[in-house]
Amino acid sequence: MLRGKRVILGVTGSIAAYKSALLVRELVKAGAEVRVVMTPSACEFITPLTLATLSRAEVVLDMFPGASSRGTWHIDLALWADVMLVAPASANTIARLAHGMADNALAALALALRCPLVIAPAMDTDMFTHPATQDNLEALRRRGAVVIPPDSGDLASGLTGEGRLVEIPAILETLEDVLFADGNDLAGMRVLVTAGPTHERIDPVRFIGNHSSGKMGFALAHAAARRGAIVTLVAGPVQLATPRGVRRVDVTTAEEMFAAVSDAATDANIVVMAAAVADYRAAEYSERKLKKDAQGEGEMLLRLQQNPDILRILGQRKRNQILIGFALETHDDEANARLKLAAKNADMIVLNNPTIPGAGFGTDTNIATLLFADGSSEHLDLLPKTDLARIIIDRAIHLLTTLSLDAAPASS
Ligand code: CTP
Repeated sequence: MLRGKRVILGVTGSIAAYKSALLVRELVKAGAEVRVVMTPSACEFITPLTLATLSRAEVVLDMFPGASSRGTWHIDLALWADVMLVAPASANTIARLAHGMADNALAALALALRCPLVIAPAMDTDMFTHPATQDNLEALRRRGAVVIPPDSGDLASGLTGEGRLVEIPAILETLEDVLFADGNDLAGMRVLVTAGPTHERIDPVRFIGNHSSGKMGFALAHAAARRGAIVTLVAGPVQLATPRGVRRVDVTTAEEMFAAVSDAATDANIVVMAAAVADYRAAEYSERKLKKDAQGEGEMLLRLQQNPDILRILGQRKRNQILIGFALETHDDEANARLKLAAKNADMIVLNNPTIPGAGFGTDTNIATLLFADGSSEHLDLLPKTDLARIIIDRAIHLLTTLSLDAAPASS
């Protein structure tokens, strides 16, 4: 995923420095060329030999590496790189970078960069939340650095809180985002995506739900954010990490989803209803657990009440907005999906059949047909959901462009 990309990894004096060995290994495995630069305190936590061996290159330690090397090594290395990642970034290094100091090799290098700078802080929670550190991070963000917020959890100090170095897959994902940004063609646009199932409570221990994993909706939110959109993701109950730069609203039931969507949809340019909204909820919620034999032996009747059809209501309210729905069909696929497209006043329906291997719930792939309101359609082969998400966002942008051309005054 990072094939051919040149990455400078800056390692600083944080206990999490031991993780940089794994980080280098994963970067190399992903195809990146890695050069490591360490601060003097980083060497107290991990040896340069380890990182030199794993990165297959000499580690930069000194500002003045000796008579045999050029004094402008930091300029050469800075120009060589596609990205510089500082992980773990200690409070001290963050302060240095924020103030443009150049008193060690890492800081001097960072000052000479022309490529993006990505910072993954790791420190004790009080040091992280201290206004000095927060101000420094804000200053770096303002200057374009990407800060990957630390995780919360157990810290080396024995305290619990924010400050743990974020997991390596999240670091790699951010590097990919930074290195392969998909342009900025949604800059300033608002995109609303729903994802996952809804759970309709029956009693304190039971609910009506479905197998939706949320992966498609999360991939769509990620794809839109990568193109510069302001993205709101209304997510049903799923355990997925929030894509970078996305505002997430967690909901449980269809009615909660409806409320959250109604709020965010008014000024959204594109709305994608990827959630598998439960069509029905229990007509009465029982405060007490329903007993097996409450209605006699052998059977039980549960009265259901229809949920709002969110997509249909959005279709009725729609003005200058691209509305995309999904249709999950197991038979008469295209005919059913066309009916939904018309009935819900959508601009596009993404049709998929969960009974086909590789498509539907839980998988990382999908097979979809895109149906458009003008009667045209586009069949797509088996694709990773991330690729399908990019294509759907592409088509949405195209529809948005057509819409704004149509909306333009006739004289222009
Ligand atoms: N949808 C919605 N609100 C609902 C049900 C569905 O907004 N209460 C949206 C889904 O997010 C999806 C589209 O409508 O984008 C189609 O969902 P689907 O379940 O396939 O269709 P239904 O209209 O529920 O019809 P049926 O279940 O009868 O196939």
